[in-house]
Amino acid sequence: GAGVWIWNAQVISTADQVDFTRPLAVPPLAPSRMVDGRRVFDLKAQAGEHDFGRGATPTWGFNGGFLGPTLRAARGEQVVVNVTNALDQTTTVHWHGMHLPAEADGGPHQLVQPGRAWSPTWKVDQPAATLWYHPHLHGETAGHVYRGLAGMFLVDDPATSVDALPHEYGVDDIPLIVQDKKFDGDGELDDSSSFLGGVGVLGDTVAVNGTVGPYLDVTTERVRLRLLNGSNARSYEFGFPDGRRFALVGTDGGLLEAAYDLDRIMLSPGERAEIVVTVKAGERTVLRSYPQALETGLLGDRFTGGADTLDILQLRAAGTLAPRPAVPQRLVAVPKLNRADAVRQRPFTLSGHAINGKQMDMTRVDAAPERGSVEIWKVVNNDGTPHNFHIHDVQFQVLTQGGAAPPPQLSGWKDTVYLPPNVTFELIMRFSDYADADTPYMFHCHVLYHEDAGMMGQFVVV
Ligand code: C2O
Ligand code: CU
Repeated sequence: GAGVWIWNAQVISTADQVDFTRPLAVPPLAPSRMVDGRRVFDLKAQAGEHDFGRGATPTWGFNGGFLGPTLRAARGEQVVVNVTNALDQTTTVHWHGMHLPAEADGGPHQLVQPGRAWSPTWKVDQPAATLWYHPHLHGETAGHVYRGLAGMFLVDDPATSVDALPHEYGVDDIPLIVQDKKFDGDGELDDSSSFLGGVGVLGDTVAVNGTVGPYLDVTTERVRLRLLNGSNARSYEFGFPDGRRFALVGTDGGLLEAAYDLDRIMLSPGERAEIVVTVKAGERTVLRSYPQALETGLLGDRFTGGADTLDILQLRAAGTLAPRPAVPQRLVAVPKLNRADAVRQRPFTLSGHAINGKQMDMTRVDAAPERGSVEIWKVVNNDGTPHNFHIHDVQFQVLTQGGAAPPPQLSGWKDTVYLPPNVTFELIMRFSDYADADTPYMFHCHVLYHEDAGMMGQFVVV
């Protein structure tokens, strides 16, 4: 349904206006304990408050008032997460980008009622990557994430550890959860356009890990930034106003084969990128989001904030920097999925808050790939506004974008991809070895208002 469409028509710029007076908060690593050979974490969804630099704002968080701790586990480990819901509303926790059995996925079929607990367990079985977690209800995801329910989940892979990459969490390996927020007249978070049919709310204030106007003291020659677009609707095009380039080393599902030298990286909602930035002693630079050349027509860019210029984070290099090795040219071997291995192609058209003309239905299965099979999903955005495409459980590779080979930032493992209008993407993926015909996984647009409005479908592995 069309509903009422709202967007921020005004183009905003915070460039050179952000004061960078607050040290960047870095989410703590979640404590874990080994029980019967399994790594056990505890996550409690709770109400609280958070200071966005304007006094106390009511928010939600995991194990605290806003956002959640960083979970970290190694490939091969069996993990258990004890999720408890101390909110007065039903929620879920979904492990975005994680390969796991459908019953552990934390989507709309794994609701956690107020006062109840849910303890999914799975074996971490994928390359080292920057994943994240957030609620995933049918029709109510946007508000839960907007209030603060989100965190990072880092996978380490001892077999492919890249020792030349800086990697000390919180020192030179820094998670950055980038979110835009809007406040109402009472100073409360304003999420008022997250109703069905809404295009989404774009904030005018950017918080990184919950810090507004943040700076990061850099003490090493290179710093690895794990960027997560944790916003509900806004896309970012990250770069540096001093023209500084950076090495793109990883995308959604893990490290790339080669480090790419870039000056910009665009992330739509839910996407991640790992970049390594080199600084000199005493330097200061700013991570900025630039207007994007989306070419989506008159209003399209505005729907995702693509016309805005926003200052995100100041990097302040110390007078003396600890040495770090150069980023190696070759990173990890990424096995390529081949067109010839695909047993099936499926077309998906996103338009009008629906996929293939159908809105999300909890009782309908839209695709049933066979266990372990390779398929090509041909995905196209048929609206004049931007969408993206995210699928649960699997990481895919982009075979083609508009018929051509994909650019470097789409050359590795991805679980979420930006879809400009009218460009067909061929995504190739191998489905799960965990078959469960009764429990669906989701695929959807990760503009959370679109997801809530029905732009989501379900698949089962049979
Ligand atoms: Cu980040 Cu289906 O979600
Ligand atoms: Cu969308």
